[in-house]
Amino acid sequence: MALKLNDIKKNEEVLAAIRESDKALEIMGFTEHGLRHLNIVSDRAQEIAKDIGMNEREIELSAIASFCHDMGNFMGRTQHHYWAAILFRQIFGNEMDGDELVTITQAIANHDKEEMKFTNKVAAVLVVADKSDVHKSRVRNQPIEATMLDIHDRVNYAVVDSSIKIDKEEKTIILALTIDVNLVPIIEYFEIFTERMSYCRKAAGYLGYRFSLIINNFKLS
Ligand SMILES: [Fe+2]
Ligand SMILES: [Fe+2]
Repeated sequence: MALKLNDIKKNEEVLAAIRESDKALEIMGFTEHGLRHLNIVSDRAQEIAKDIGMNEREIELSAIASFCHDMGNFMGRTQHHYWAAILFRQIFGNEMDGDELVTITQAIANHDKEEMKFTNKVAAVLVVADKSDVHKSRVRNQPIEATMLDIHDRVNYAVVDSSIKIDKEEKTIILALTIDVNLVPIIEYFEIFTERMSYCRKAAGYLGYRFSLIINNFKLS
């Protein structure tokens, strides 16, 4: 029987890799990359894939790739996308058919590369779902004084609401954010997230959609 997201979520090796990866990133001072992030990215990927009309199996593969995309961080941050892809293949290599395995490993390996290229829709959906996860709940130590944090924590902390919507008629993927401007000036968002937004735009383009950003009800593109 074809592997499903629920099987992946129960796999002990996957869960251990996710736990260790999040621990390693916490030590390095990164925002949360554990089950919270992976469940959100995986849920978002399913919604996006469904809304843009991908078939049942493609939706499932998008969710699986999304759930596993950051599990390689415990072996090293810089190449974590490659580690996660190889690890996925090692764990599930005998349980998936060749085409599906290639799609998922390519999607995972591609999600954090400067030379990011899209050769399948699963990879593009994963990038939009991953790069749009900016939210207060990603900050590990909820601070009293937000100005004390580094810029990544500060910006994430200031994002009090974040959602993805698909406008099928306008063929647009919309990321809507509410940023508390008492905590950060909007410009700080762009200081660290411009690259991620251009990844989203590139991924949306591959899917045949435009990417639009709405911040505090102001549409930016
Ligand atoms: Fe990543
Ligand atoms: Fe991620």
